[in-house]
Amino acid sequence: MDIKSSNSTKAKAVAVTCVVVIGATIAVLDLYKKRATAKKTLDDDVVEPPYVSSWIPHVGSALEMSKLGHLQFIQKYTQKCGTPIFSANIMGRLCHFIGDPLHTQFVFKDWPQFDTQSIAMDFLQKAMGCDKKEIDKAHASPGWIKQSKESFRNHILATQSIQETVQKAQSILLYLVDQISDGEHALFQLVKENIFLASVEPFVGKDMADTDYLAAFRDLDRGIPLAMANAPNVTQQKFIAAREMFVQLLQRESFQENCSPFMKERIRIGSQHGIQQETIARINLSLFWASVGNSAPAIFWTILFVLQDPIAYEQIQKEVDSLPPLSQNTNDGDEESLYSLENLDKCVLIDSAFKETLRLRAWPFAVKNLVDNVIFDPKQSDSPKFLLKSGTRIVGNQAVTYMDPDIFPNPQTFQYDRFVVNQETGQPPSFSKNGKTIAEPLRVFGGGKRLCPGRKFVACETKAYIAVLFRKFHMEIVGKHTFAMAEADKRTANVGVMHPVEDVMIKFTRR
Ligand code: HEM
Repeated sequence: MDIKSSNSTKAKAVAVTCVVVIGATIAVLDLYKKRATAKKTLDDDVVEPPYVSSWIPHVGSALEMSKLGHLQFIQKYTQKCGTPIFSANIMGRLCHFIGDPLHTQFVFKDWPQFDTQSIAMDFLQKAMGCDKKEIDKAHASPGWIKQSKESFRNHILATQSIQETVQKAQSILLYLVDQISDGEHALFQLVKENIFLASVEPFVGKDMADTDYLAAFRDLDRGIPLAMANAPNVTQQKFIAAREMFVQLLQRESFQENCSPFMKERIRIGSQHGIQQETIARINLSLFWASVGNSAPAIFWTILFVLQDPIAYEQIQKEVDSLPPLSQNTNDGDEESLYSLENLDKCVLIDSAFKETLRLRAWPFAVKNLVDNVIFDPKQSDSPKFLLKSGTRIVGNQAVTYMDPDIFPNPQTFQYDRFVVNQETGQPPSFSKNGKTIAEPLRVFGGGKRLCPGRKFVACETKAYIAVLFRKFHMEIVGKHTFAMAEADKRTANVGVMHPVEDVMIKFTRR
């Protein structure tokens, strides 16, 4: 090594040391400041939540959280702090994590202090590539927001549209199930294909419901959790290529002429409010993703969990066999041969198995930014109330509730009939802790203003698909596939239903 390069190496080392020392100093000062305020009594019984410190500037506790897993991180510090809520710095933001299983739903309150828009806008920017100015403009228009929500209600949630979309999806599924050959198939792959084709046609349009787009959709789907975790663009090239391809397709005249009534309506109201074509396409792409992205893994896990449990399989098979028979001549979606919504309503065991699956596999963060101070009251005689300050963020992860053994005994176990409604009263089972009943223990579809409009559709789609599959095939897991092999990929947990780490082979034998 010559003297010149040795000097420059030393200079670099000094510079790096300086940066580290300055960074650490800022972190220490920041920490002291926060510690000083953490326990400060604000009112007689109102305090700020305890602060979990981290020595890493800016990143804060984000690394530890991703290393431990979200649930374990929340459980660890809830126990350490001994309070129902604690705060930590996550990527430069002060976040309050709710660790009390009775209060994780606090985040769904429609209080004016809770900003429901900014997280959705963050998604549109980071995952869908929307321009910030354009998206700010769209969200500043109350007319657009109101009509956009109305389009969800009218085209996804309304009874009439449920009837039409479920019938359409079911006729496609019936056709696709008839194409399955006897033999071994990779279950996740099969479900993704079938659910993609069956859901995209009613909600997006016939042109997009094409197997040619499956690979691109897979790249889009895989890239979204990474985009939300700020993965650099160089590592996301397939994702970006797929996303941009869809954005182009959604703007094509030929697509817009043949698209679903839902998409037509959204294009119309978007241009009525002066939103750029490209921005409308990006927002609509997020709905395209929403209509399939969570349903496919949810249905995959439901089928797999049922196949792993011989009693569940036998009971659900019986339930399916008690439905009226499907017509033999079904390959082009003969309406007469489909299950009616009334028939699907009778599938209470499939419905319960689906809910139980979501309890085990749908653990996304529900997040709200605070635009004003809020008091979090855990309503416990031995606990103070907590002040959550404007400009900070509140985080609720329902897994805290779902994995609580007092609320859901043996929480790690798939219990297919856990959510079966009482056949006589029609009442759902009740779940409680410390004598307190939890009104809606399962919040897999979110809550408040952002409650998922697709919840009824996907429940019917799942029942229809499983009913048709189980009616037509005997299914068996190939080899020694165990829970460990069908492990959930925790990296996919932050935005929706988790994906499996690897696929599972299933042997199909026509009945
Ligand atoms: C198992 C399947 C599904 C799960 C677990 C799920 C879950 C969710 C959740 C948790 C939210 C709230 C997100 C937030 O708080 O920002 C949401 C919103 C949404 N979902 Fe779903 N969803 C599913 C299926 C569907 C389907 C099939 C559709 C469409 C047909 C759909 C359309 C939407 C839309 C449009 C929103 C945004 C609502 C709004 O911002 O007002 N979802 N979903």
